Amino acid sequence: MIYLSRRIGFSSAHRYYQKKFSEDENKKIFGRCYTEHGHGHNYILEITLGGEPDPDTGMVINLTDVDHVLKAVTDPLDHQHLNFDIPYFKEVVPTTENLARYCYDGVKKLLTTKVKLVRVRLFENPELWSDYYG
Ligand code: NI
Repeated sequence: MIYLSRRIGFSSAHRYYQKKFSEDENKKIFGRCYTEHGHGHNYILEITLGGEPDPDTGMVINLTDVDHVLKAVTDPLDHQHLNFDIPYFKEVVPTTENLARYCYDGVKKLLTTKVKLVRVRLFENPELWSDYYG
């Protein structure tokens, strides 16, 4: 199997808050990520696809199709506040881990060809990222 990876950037705001926790618990567990009005990140979503290159095109998947999927998944997140604008994150804390899984599910749904979605890697910044393999 040959792997092909592609990245796309998007910017979102978030806040870590768990309504089951008291205000003190939220503050203690989430620290500065609990700050009331949230803060933003320039995320990088990277997906890795696996498959056999087509004998005629030499491609595992056409990059145009990959970019279409990446854009469809990240456009609704771009310049949004995840907690308020994305219904999924009204109940789920928008951590890097949960956002990676959310993106994986979105990409998986839109991939129609026979390529395998091997991994989704989501960078919150160059020093922090989360991997999800499904
Ligand atoms: Ni953050």
